[in-house]
Amino acid sequence: MNSLITIRNKILGAAYRNVLKPVFFAQDPEKVHDKMTQVGSFLGGNLLTRELTSLAFNYWHPKLEQNILGIDFKNPVGLAAGFDKEAKLVSILPKVGFGFEEVGSITKERYEGNSGKRLYRLPEQKALRVNYGLKSSGADSVYNHLKSIKTEFPVGISIAKTNNPKTSVVENGVEDYLYTYKKLNDLGSYVTINISCPNTCEDFPIFARAENLEVLLKAIFSVPKTKPVFVKLSPDLANENLDSILNVCLKYPVDGFVCSNLTKANKSGHEGKGGFSGKAVFEESNRLLAYVYQYTIGKKILIGCGGIFTPEDAYKKILLGASLLQLVTGMVYQGPQVISEINSGVVELLKRDGFKNISEAVGKGNI
Ligand SMILES: Cc1cc2nc3c(=O)[nH]c(=O)nc-3n(C[C@H](O)[C@H](O)[C@H](O)COP(=O)(O)O)c2cc1C
Repeated sequence: MNSLITIRNKILGAAYRNVLKPVFFAQDPEKVHDKMTQVGSFLGGNLLTRELTSLAFNYWHPKLEQNILGIDFKNPVGLAAGFDKEAKLVSILPKVGFGFEEVGSITKERYEGNSGKRLYRLPEQKALRVNYGLKSSGADSVYNHLKSIKTEFPVGISIAKTNNPKTSVVENGVEDYLYTYKKLNDLGSYVTINISCPNTCEDFPIFARAENLEVLLKAIFSVPKTKPVFVKLSPDLANENLDSILNVCLKYPVDGFVCSNLTKANKSGHEGKGGFSGKAVFEESNRLLAYVYQYTIGKKILIGCGGIFTPEDAYKKILLGASLLQLVTGMVYQGPQVISEINSGVVELLKRDGFKNISEAVGKGNI
C-alpha cells in the first residue's frame, strides 16, 4: 500500500511540476490563488468530487494521530492562515490530506486589503512576499458562511484586528478583536489570536507589545472560553520582547503558540513592502519554535509553521517542540500531494528513530 502511495505521489508531483506549475507561475499569483479557491470550493461541493480528490491525495497512518487539548487530529499537517481567508475550502482540504486548517485571519470589518499587487513569488528563495494587509470579508460574513458548513476536521479560527489607523489605538483595537472573538466563539475547534501580521498600516504590530497584549488578553479571557486559544508570534521579535510577551501569555489560559508568522527580514534583495514566507522564514521560525518550547516546556502546545517543504523540514519542527504543523508556501511550490508526501515521510522518520507516534518525538531534538 505504501509503495502504491509513493508511486501515486511521484506521478502527481511530476504532473504538478511539469504541467500545472509552469502554467500557474506564468500568471499573477493572486489570480491563481483566487482561481484555485474557486476550484477547491467546487470540488468540496459534492460527494463524488470529494471522494475522487481523496483517492488522489489522502494518506492515513495511526502514528500520525493525536488528541491535543481534546481535539482529534488525524495527522499533524494543517493549512496555515491566509490561504483560506473566507473558509471556502473547509470541505475539500480534509480530502487533500490536511489534518486541520486555520481559516482567516478574520477581522471585524470588511477590508479589501492593501492596494496594488500584493503577492509575489520569489522562486530563487522558494518564498513568497505577501502584502495583503489583512484582507477580510469581515467577521459577520465569515460567520454566516462557516455556520452553515459541516466540518470534517479541526478548523482553527484566526482572528486579527481590522487594518486601519483607528484600531491602532489600544482600546479600539481591543474592541475590534473582541467583536470577532465573540462572534465566532461558538464555531471552530480552536482560535488563534494573530498579533504578528507584518503588512498592516502599523510599523510594529501594537499588540506585540506586552503591555497592550495584556489589555487584549484580559478582555479576551473575560469572555467564557469555549475552545483552546493560541497566539501567533512573529519570528522577528527580539528575545527581551518575546520574553515579556510569553510572560503575559503565561498569566492567562493561553493554550499554545503558532511559531511563526511571516518575517520582515528581507534576504532576497526584492524591493517592496510585506512579509516573507517559505524558505525565507524557515530558520527564523525554527529559532522561535525552539526558544518558545524551552521557555514553556511541557506547558503549551506549539504549532510549527514556516518553510515546510519536505518530511525532514516537518520532522525538524516536531523535534524542536511542535505538536502540530502548518504550511502554505510548500504547497504552492510543490503541489498538493506534498501533504501526503510529508505525512508518509514523517511516519518513516518516526519509525527510523524508534518513536511510537508523534507525541513521543515532540521536543526530543531540543536540548
Ligand atoms: C498569501 C499569504 C497570506 C497570509 N495571510 C495570513 C493571515 O491572514 N494571517 C496569518 O496569521 N498568517 C498569514 N500568512 C502567514 C502564514 O500563515 C504562515 O505563517 C507563513 O506563510 C509561513 O508559512 P509557509 O512558509 O508555509 O508559507 C499568510 C501567508 C501567505 C503566503
